[in-house]
Amino acid sequence: MKYNFDELIQREETNCEKYDHRQKIFGRRDVIPMWVADMDFKTPDFILNAIKNRLRHEVLCYTFIPGSFYDAVMSWNMRRHGWQTKREWISFSPGVVPALNMLVMALTEAGDKIIVQPPVYFPFFSAVRNHGRIMVSNPLACEGGRYVMNFSQLVSSIDNRVKMIILCNPHNPTGNVWEKEILLRLADLCLKNNIIILSDEIHCDLVYPGYKHIPMASLSDETAGLTVTCMAPSKTFNMAGMSTSYLIIPNPEIKKKYDDLLNHIHVGAGNIFGFSALEAAYNEGEEWPAQLMEYVEGNLKFMTDFFRSEIPRIKVIKPDATYMVWLDCRELGLNSNDLRDFMISKAGLGLSDGPLFGPEGEGFQRINIACPRSLLEKALYQLRDAVHQEKL
Ligand SMILES: Cc1ncc(COP(=O)(O)O)c(C=O)c1O
Repeated sequence: MKYNFDELIQREETNCEKYDHRQKIFGRRDVIPMWVADMDFKTPDFILNAIKNRLRHEVLCYTFIPGSFYDAVMSWNMRRHGWQTKREWISFSPGVVPALNMLVMALTEAGDKIIVQPPVYFPFFSAVRNHGRIMVSNPLACEGGRYVMNFSQLVSSIDNRVKMIILCNPHNPTGNVWEKEILLRLADLCLKNNIIILSDEIHCDLVYPGYKHIPMASLSDETAGLTVTCMAPSKTFNMAGMSTSYLIIPNPEIKKKYDDLLNHIHVGAGNIFGFSALEAAYNEGEEWPAQLMEYVEGNLKFMTDFFRSEIPRIKVIKPDATYMVWLDCRELGLNSNDLRDFMISKAGLGLSDGPLFGPEGEGFQRINIACPRSLLEKALYQLRDAVHQEKL
């Protein structure tokens, strides 16, 4: 393996949200932080070098998005996902969450309904509600340890005020890579009802060996016409602090509405280092995601085996993608507050609390396993000891 994922990196006091906000989030600073989607691995050298290279010129000027940024995005999506995109479809965004908010503002009106499918990445909820839109919840169903979309409920929740659905693919926190048949069914429903699809595909490069991500908009020209795809190199290459992501919007009318808002509030110029970082990631990062996910898969296997033998009442929802893993802790028999408190105070772990992802997350916790194996081992031993100590 070319990259070293075993290296423990000191991250405290680096303005690092994951480590330096522990007191604020968990009420103590000694928990092992396994919450926000940020990896404990070094950002790869080819990205750091590209940033250093830009620094050789001493003026950090006002900037604009270079042609090479678009080329890198198009080439990556073609090479990785077999998706042929066009330069005129691509818009900049300082982050996927800001983009979701701007898209809701630009493409819907107050009082419109927007569908989300919890348990899901919770900023989807605020992107709807903070702008006076009505959130329609179509919870996923968990069948035999795998989450599935509930289509009959979805159909019955659609009326003429539903203008948008926010899709998470791969899905955070369940780790589902949605199958082609499911995407086709969803697309068909949205086309029939003229519902815009915001497809958050930020985790798309993080599939486990054997899985393949299908961009929603790649299904057909008609689907592309109703879909806004949100992507970024931030999760894949551990560069969230670069605030650099992008949207792919084949429909020119939809794109104009987004671009107008982006430009009216003057956040469309981007970050001079972010461009260099994205281009290096996409032009030189061919081997990184495969090696990363091979290592993370080893972590997943270690954790799954560990729970099976040491704490069988915690069940791992097996992900197809991403290093965020959904843990079913319901058999521990704790209520929500007690479960959260147990993880923090007894196990010494800073996890994401299930109910954040919707009421369907009650009894669940989300763990980030993108860390050196030795740290994961330490966390799991702490958890096992706490379970024994508390006689759960
Ligand atoms: C599904 C999903 N979308 C968006 C984000 C964050 O995107 P950004 O940092 O670009 O706002 C995350 C981070 O965890 C995520 O899981």
